[in-house]
Amino acid sequence: MSTLITNIGELVTNAPQHAADDSGRGGGRGSRGGRFGALHDAALVIEDRRVAWCGPAAKAPAADHVVNAEGRAALPGFVDSHAHLVFAGERSSEFAARMAGRPYQAGGISATVAATREASDARLRAGVRRLAAEMLRQGTTTFECKSGYGLTVADERRSARLAAEVTDEVTYLGAHVVPPEFAGDPDAYVDLVCGEMLAACAPYAKWVDVFCDRGAFGADQARLVLAAGRDAGLIPRVHACQLGPGPGVQVAVEAGAASADHCTFLSEQDVDALASSETVATLLPGVEFSTRQPYPDARRLLSAGVTVALATDCNPGSCFTSSMALCVALAVREMRMTTQEAVWAATAGGARALRRTDVGHLAEGARADLILLDAPSHTYLAYRPAVPQVAAVWRAGERVADLRSRAP
Ligand code: NIG
Ligand code: FE
Repeated sequence: MSTLITNIGELVTNAPQHAADDSGRGGGRGSRGGRFGALHDAALVIEDRRVAWCGPAAKAPAADHVVNAEGRAALPGFVDSHAHLVFAGERSSEFAARMAGRPYQAGGISATVAATREASDARLRAGVRRLAAEMLRQGTTTFECKSGYGLTVADERRSARLAAEVTDEVTYLGAHVVPPEFAGDPDAYVDLVCGEMLAACAPYAKWVDVFCDRGAFGADQARLVLAAGRDAGLIPRVHACQLGPGPGVQVAVEAGAASADHCTFLSEQDVDALASSETVATLLPGVEFSTRQPYPDARRLLSAGVTVALATDCNPGSCFTSSMALCVALAVREMRMTTQEAVWAATAGGARALRRTDVGHLAEGARADLILLDAPSHTYLAYRPAVPQVAAVWRAGERVADLRSRAP
């Protein structure tokens, strides 16, 4: 069964052959080694979960089923490479207090840890499924999900297990903060994270993460966690330089991490280290929006040649949004990314941060994950912030979200 989507006003493919120079209609500068690319008046054929063909609408082959996009834009499904979805409770009063002038601190995580430990499996499962469905409706077709609100062997294991029910991109984040019962002996907690807890979680996880920042874990502790994770077959990623300058980015690069996330307070050495590595800088502008911290300097990173991804960091504390479209709008308005750079970072950039080559682009052979926007171009994501513009979503070739009033 094949599906032809035709009369696409702008088809964002991120394929190198569809990138044009910055002045042209097609592409623009993306991060190192990747560029936004688009076709106009285009069509795309889906067959067997994959993109079987894309090109000018006038040359489209026949298919079993035809969808007329009526000039709408289509783009790769968003790839949200950083989210914490397994938790119970909420922290809206902490948000309100921040908006009234209180700073964000890592310690708030403990409130969610207490609520998560108390919750039944059924309640946690319902929460993670609700957020996963919310993401999909908004065009996120691939997402990462961390443990990190259990912080006991049993609670981290069940968090990783529940995350694995909704995504293949599961991250073990036992090293989120030191839980209260280990306050007097943080190194004993690191031993647990590197030992029994890791062994319990590794079967469900692909990634190991550590919050390397003030109020969380120091460089040496972070190195131990990442090395133990690597020995268990997990690939490192790091929460780095969110709350202040620190060693997080250097630790991430040294460990060959797929991604250093947040990157809000970077030194020249941090930028140089990222630029000469394969580590992606994943920027999370929803966090700065929700904590009133300064936004990361995306232009500095892009000028240095660093690969930049955008993600939500959806969690109950520092940022409770699941909207990649909001992140694109914030990156454009507040971080001076071009609309093309931001859309590339939210799709292909996220794929790089997850070391995925099958998603984040729509070249032939890619997994058929795409969004049809109720708008003529990708620019509308930032031009019409907060307006629901996702008209339809396909994941692995299947039409999964169909917002009836807007869908063709
Ligand atoms: O990415 N920085 C550490 N972890 C989360 C915050 C989690 C929370 O506040 O509950 C983050 O911002
Ligand atoms: Fe996070």
